[in-house]
Amino acid sequence: MRTTIAIVGAGPAGLLLGQLLQRAGIDNVIVERRSADYVLSRIRAGVLEQGTVDLLDSVGASQRLHAEGIVHHGFELLLDGRREHIDLDAGGVPVTIYGQTEVTRDLMDARAAQGGQTLYEVDDVAIGGVDGDRPWLDFTVDGVVTRLDCDYVVGCDGFHGVSRRTIPEGVLRTYERVYPFGWLGILVDTPPVNDELVYARHARGFALCSMRSASRSRYYVQVPTEERVDDWSDARFWNELRARLSPDLAERLQTGPSLEKSIAPLRSFVVEPMQHGRLFLAGDAAHIVPPTGAKGLNLAMADVGLLASLFDKAYAGGEPQALARYSELALRRVWRAQRFSWWMTSMLHTLPGLDAFTTRVHGAELDTLLASRAGRATIAEAYAGFPGQTLD
Ligand code: APR
Ligand code: PHB
Repeated sequence: MRTTIAIVGAGPAGLLLGQLLQRAGIDNVIVERRSADYVLSRIRAGVLEQGTVDLLDSVGASQRLHAEGIVHHGFELLLDGRREHIDLDAGGVPVTIYGQTEVTRDLMDARAAQGGQTLYEVDDVAIGGVDGDRPWLDFTVDGVVTRLDCDYVVGCDGFHGVSRRTIPEGVLRTYERVYPFGWLGILVDTPPVNDELVYARHARGFALCSMRSASRSRYYVQVPTEERVDDWSDARFWNELRARLSPDLAERLQTGPSLEKSIAPLRSFVVEPMQHGRLFLAGDAAHIVPPTGAKGLNLAMADVGLLASLFDKAYAGGEPQALARYSELALRRVWRAQRFSWWMTSMLHTLPGLDAFTTRVHGAELDTLLASRAGRATIAEAYAGFPGQTLD
């Protein structure tokens, strides 16, 4: 088999890249280890920056998003019981609440409608030849060992994928922070406790009230990393969440049986560069942010938005050298999002062992920003998302 761009991984990054390349008339094939149903069963975050919505618009995969997504012009910080509203219009643009799972489904449908090729349940993907001009993917599909020759390989295969591991020792520099806590999350068919998302800082630990629709909510509480989901009955979860909310929100909270309950660890992670020879890394394959800034999906989308425009420059514009700038351009945005995600995480979570003085200083840092119009706008701008990185 032969294609122009071989994409590893059919998560949101791989699927969006596939669509952007289809639009640009650049042939591509996606190989995915799991089945389509499995990919659609993963519950993930749900805050889309305007830049992400624009990219989905540009590939014609946003009809349902505009019909069912909820536009939010702000969010709340709940600081030890005090409610503070952050107005996104003051510093940036609104965000759209729409589940990542739904984004993935819409991109899958758009790809199917255009006849784009995705191979699911592909085993043993191996990447070769990226140091030369003719790279390839080897894999097994339906028991048949197959080679896919291509011009470039893009690793959109997430944090645990094969692409990053293909790059020889010593090429990549890793920057990492692992936090000693995770988020215990539940999905529930009850109306959200508040019209907007609520990020709560509390002595018992962080909590987040989020939503998927007017009748479906997503709630999280910070728990120690070693905590086990089985130890958390629904009742225990609701009690803990209520304890971290203000009395008015606690009273309004509508509980119900959880549809899903899981614990996600928190990590900040970046590799540099995001390219080696003819292999590019995009999305979670290259970086992870803690979910507190709602940046993971948006960064993945921005990476492939940039990469697709560089491929277009290389093929339609006859400037293949443009591709060499991918890593440098992508990393600028990645690090700004990393900073914001780390900062939100540090300000809002209780860190075991953190001294009382620093805890007070974090509170004062939030108060300082919230007391200033510029400070509020800074938070709003970062949350709403920075503009896409371009070549200029
Ligand atoms: N071969 C083929 N496919 C693979 C392999 C492999 N060896 N390893 C992983 N994959 C697939 C996974 O099954 C998954 O479907 O790659 C896909 C990667 O998708 P995601 O993990 O969703 O990563 P990405 O597309 O970069 O999206 C980033 O996901 O984790 C969230 O916070 C993150 O919202 C962000 C988004
Ligand atoms: C979610 O709805 O799952 C969600 C929302 C905002 C975040 C993280 C997760 O910052």
